Amino acid sequence: MKSYLTTPIYYVNAAPHIGHAHTSVMADILKRNKLARGMDVRLSTGCDEHGQKNQEAAEALNLAPQDYLDQRAEEFQRLFDLVGVDYDYYVRTTRPGHKEAVARAEQQLFDAGLIVKKSYTGKYCKGCEQFKKESDLTEDDRCPEHNNIELELIDEPNYFFPMEPYRQRLIDHINANPDFVDPPMYRGELLKMLAEPLEDLSISRPKARVSLGIELPFDADHVTYVWFDALLNYLTNLEFPGGDYQDWWSECRHLIGKDILKTHGVYWPTMLMALDLPLPKGLVVHGHWLGDGGVKMSKTLGNVVDPIEVAEKYGVDALRYYLARHMRTESDSQISAETIAQVYSSELANKFGNLLSRAGKFAKARFDGVPQMGQLTEADEAVRAKALAAAQGLAKEITLTQLPERVAALVDAAEELNAYFAHSAPWDLMKEEATQPRAGTVVYVALDSLRLLFEALRQVIPVSSDKALAMMGVDLPAAPWSPALDQLQGGAPLGDIEVLFARVD
Ligand code: MSP
Repeated sequence: MKSYLTTPIYYVNAAPHIGHAHTSVMADILKRNKLARGMDVRLSTGCDEHGQKNQEAAEALNLAPQDYLDQRAEEFQRLFDLVGVDYDYYVRTTRPGHKEAVARAEQQLFDAGLIVKKSYTGKYCKGCEQFKKESDLTEDDRCPEHNNIELELIDEPNYFFPMEPYRQRLIDHINANPDFVDPPMYRGELLKMLAEPLEDLSISRPKARVSLGIELPFDADHVTYVWFDALLNYLTNLEFPGGDYQDWWSECRHLIGKDILKTHGVYWPTMLMALDLPLPKGLVVHGHWLGDGGVKMSKTLGNVVDPIEVAEKYGVDALRYYLARHMRTESDSQISAETIAQVYSSELANKFGNLLSRAGKFAKARFDGVPQMGQLTEADEAVRAKALAAAQGLAKEITLTQLPERVAALVDAAEELNAYFAHSAPWDLMKEEATQPRAGTVVYVALDSLRLLFEALRQVIPVSSDKALAMMGVDLPAAPWSPALDQLQGGAPLGDIEVLFARVD
């Protein structure tokens, strides 16, 4: 079975931040979950390179646009590589193949009479790269998403794509496909947006004002950029309209933050309908990370979390783990370097790392490898069952909404294993010959259950999990993965037991 997951393509007018890392890491985790279930998966992430914001950012640095874009595209790619995003397509909208496909799509709509030219007067938010209706604005006439940006009053000819003709069809589609938007809360929001007639979508700007875009094939004085251009990346990655794009397109889900629900839930489906193309399978929406104090991160407040800094200090897996464990889809969540460090130490280091180190070292020193498992007690069976159930939570399909609770179940199981190990006190049992086999069983149960938890954690923190499995001397599980107990062999050697999650002050 195929699956095609996409992330938004990010504006490159500034350095990448935690939000960009977030959606791409979430997509990566969903990809690993699908791979573990034996699916064939493709994942796209990348950069949205056209538009006014990017152009102005290049100008501010006195750089030729292409040089600026090349630098930023590399910077974003370095971040995705650093945080372990296993993408199949790294999108750059300045890629010639993408630009040609966008121009072809525009020509198709223009020829069908679905694009019209008219003069436009309105307020434009550079932050969203969207025209705003009065009803979109705050009381003091600002964009709710970009309170710090002055809206621009624009009066110029633009080409427009009228969306209204597709509104009812889109409502019907959403009603007929309950999982078109996940979680359902955003489905309600989307339907609300569709309750009123839809405006015409501006798809171009005069080249004289903004040049960083794709020239309209039917009017060389205008360029298209941002939404009409950017959204099409999801198809152009697949070499649309050629290749085997249909096989993947029919299995596409877009991961997005709640800020771009309208563009993905209204602009994009209506564009696809006009182009006579099927809609994606669905949208997977998440809430936003807020900085310390529960407010938007900003340099002035000093609450910005830099993903690169965090990854360098605590390791990539500390960051990935925190994002997966504490994100929420239906609300915003807070993040700070301190809370990442706390969770790293209280969960990754103290629960998973600690048990691996204690049980692993004990097994090596006293049993010269994996001990033999003897008769099981009720307590043994209980911790084993809990670990197995927690691991099974990641062998099933996960949605973004479910991810934090599935990770929490692994933590609970690890916590219980730690308590079991401490309480069973195998070091005491080793003192009498008669109870030594029992000590072996305890260590076996602890290690084998922990192995299962790390097999599951491979989806979230692949690097550390694979290291842990190597320390336990086991092969990485093959796909499709089906979690099972008793995969450690009594008498088998263990690898070197090293510190998995080093302490950081
Ligand atoms: N270029 C457009 C998207 C085009 S997609 C065809 C854009 N770019 S963006 O750089 O502003 O990225 C927005 C996305 O980044 C959000 O939808 C979300 O995926 C991610 N995030 C940005 N800030 C975020 C948080 N504070 N928290 C979580 N994710 C956020 O919009």
